[in-house]
Amino acid sequence: MRYRIFLAGAAGAIGNRMIPILRDAGHAVVGTTRSAAKAETLRSLGIEPVLVDVFDAERLLRAMESARPDVVIHQLTDLPQKLDPRLMGEAIVGNARIRDERTRNLGADANALRVRRLVAQSLAWAYAPGPEPHAESDPLDAGAQGARGTTVRGVIALEDWVLKSPPLEGIVLRYGQFYGPGSHADKPSNFVPVHVDAAAYAAVLAIERGQPGPYNIAQSNVHVATDKARTELGWSADFRISDKPARE
Ligand SMILES: NC(=O)c1ccc[n+]([C@@H]2O[C@H](COP(=O)([O-])OP(=O)(O)OC[C@H]3O[C@@H](n4cnc5c(N)ncnc54)[C@H](OP(=O)(O)O)[C@@H]3O)[C@@H](O)[C@H]2O)c1
Repeated sequence: MRYRIFLAGAAGAIGNRMIPILRDAGHAVVGTTRSAAKAETLRSLGIEPVLVDVFDAERLLRAMESARPDVVIHQLTDLPQKLDPRLMGEAIVGNARIRDERTRNLGADANALRVRRLVAQSLAWAYAPGPEPHAESDPLDAGAQGARGTTVRGVIALEDWVLKSPPLEGIVLRYGQFYGPGSHADKPSNFVPVHVDAAAYAAVLAIERGQPGPYNIAQSNVHVATDKARTELGWSADFRISDKPARE
């Protein structure tokens, strides 16, 4: 099945890696960026760029309206590229805001435009303390304090907007810590790592095969269970884009 896809955050760490996989699967993609230069790059990669700041609600709605998507993919985050500790305080607040307010907007617009499915980026390390590995049914850490509290509350808000906005079919991908091209790390972390290509692949599988609900997306590890994604989506943490070249 081929879909019309609105990819919010097309030039980010995961959005960018999704483009060849989506193109190869034959989907028609409209992707957002705020930068004219990145828009040209998106066009050269074979998707239709749209210049929009997601805090401009009217423009976002118009962009989605003209894209007429079947599926919206939300890969928006607002973090500094190098995760510089001096910039992280402010970034954590801005990122929680984008997760809460902008996800609410995307969900409402998607329902208004009768979009069938919304797939959004979440985190695999927001679980409340408890026995590990955490399954998707485990509670999130709603009582966390300080910076973690800000992040987890943003994640809970995002997941609520995605999963509890019927009739939209919502899927959240609880990603581990990224490494690989365009991310802040070359090598896997020793917590819950996931390569950006495998993370992007999970989002494409979620469009095609996912059931509404959350999926942990990380390499095998002792903290977070990943069997649901493997079994239901047929996902593999070993997927790399060079394994599956884009069609001409
Ligand atoms: N799970 C993880 O480990 C994780 C998760 C997320 C990010 N990170 C790390 O954080 C760093 C930055 O990642 P990134 O490049 O993906 O994130 P990013 O640059 O913060 O944002 C991702 C996408 O969100 C878009 N965006 C942000 N604010 C927007 C707004 N107001 N309106 C429209 N679009 C907006 C950006 O669009 P523009 O093209 O307009 O800039 C970009 O395409 C990387 O090192 C990454 O590895 C890690």
